[in-house]
Amino acid sequence: MRALVARAARVPPRVEEVILPAPGPDEVRVAIRAAGICHSDLSMVNGTLAPPYPLVLGHEAAGVVRTVGDRVDRVRAGDHVVLNWAPPCRRCWHCRHGEPWLCAATGAPGTPRGTSAADGAPLHVTLGLGALAEEVVVAGNAVIPVPADLPSELAALLGCAVLTGVGAVRRTAGVAPGDAVAVIGLGGVGLSTVAAARAAGADPVIAVDLAEAKRGLATAAGATDFLVSDETSTRSVRALTGGRGVDHAFECVGRAATIRLAWRATRRGGQVLVVGMGAKDDVLELGALDIFHSARVLRSSVYGSSDPDRDLPELARAASDGSLDLTTLITDRINLDEAPEALHRMARGEGARSVVLFEETGEPARGRVHSAPA
Ligand code: APR
Ligand code: ZN
Repeated sequence: MRALVARAARVPPRVEEVILPAPGPDEVRVAIRAAGICHSDLSMVNGTLAPPYPLVLGHEAAGVVRTVGDRVDRVRAGDHVVLNWAPPCRRCWHCRHGEPWLCAATGAPGTPRGTSAADGAPLHVTLGLGALAEEVVVAGNAVIPVPADLPSELAALLGCAVLTGVGAVRRTAGVAPGDAVAVIGLGGVGLSTVAAARAAGADPVIAVDLAEAKRGLATAAGATDFLVSDETSTRSVRALTGGRGVDHAFECVGRAATIRLAWRATRRGGQVLVVGMGAKDDVLELGALDIFHSARVLRSSVYGSSDPDRDLPELARAASDGSLDLTTLITDRINLDEAPEALHRMARGEGARSVVLFEETGEPARGRVHSAPA
């Protein structure tokens, strides 16, 4: 089977022939139907993050269960599933204290799972998944069943961008009707955040991005205002919020500079939600007096402070019945061989989600369905 493999930092990933192990008693084999390309995949190849290599990329995907290990009882062959990149162990301190998204057993960027290259050399797989691949063998608790009639391309997005963005709004921040919100960075994660904030009744929802080209996508997702980020952004956000700043600012880029922008755009006593995942040497400086005087809260939102086993099926229902419209998030439908180019587009800040579609046989879709951004 074929998968997208990164061999080293700053070396373009390539599609390679890969050998999967037979699933163990606690594992399942899944044929991938759709896999989104997330900025974290880019961060794992461009030097922002330092995962172990060689690494099968991908952690946002949906597919159909092929084989089930003896001790797995949550799914059967033929079930449609979304992959969970942080399956909680349910035993560690965080899991026992209602914070499964901080589970001590998950989150390693690359994990060996018995996958190997064509020459037999071991490969790491991203977050225990390695989902930019025709098939995966994953832990039995890393699959979440979803209705078979939910289109795979939408199901895939639930597994990272949507759970992250919606969770950040509903669970981490607790946005209430009438709250003023700013969202900085309008990729799959930021647009999901915009949509969830609007659905929660936030007003205004101010969307901010470097690229003017994101205006249409932001508006389609529900933003009330759009700003191209520059040195006047803080002033513009204040002008839209009675001079105060927003109640909640969501940083969906993963950079110290945009966390600072979010901080400055937030009112006294408001909160800054760091949703993006940045580099460890990208340092944010805040003044001691500013921290005291502003009375702002600076929080991060890991996987939307969600319990995917509980929250993802609810999102799947909302996506199925149309109350959660995810179609505007997908700007490019591609095959696996086009994934490296999609990473380049993402690095240039173009489009929103590119989703790799696989045919039912597990073969990559032929040709390209390229839909224009909204
Ligand atoms: N100011 C405003 N917007 C910016 C800036 C900036 N200085 N720099 C980049 N952006 C915008 C890009 O133009 C792009 O629209 O941020 C957006 C990021 O979108 P994607 O690259 O599609 O990223 P996404 O997959 O949404 O992930 C966002 O969340 O999960 C994390 O690791 C992920 O840190 C990443 C973040
Ligand atoms: Zn992701």
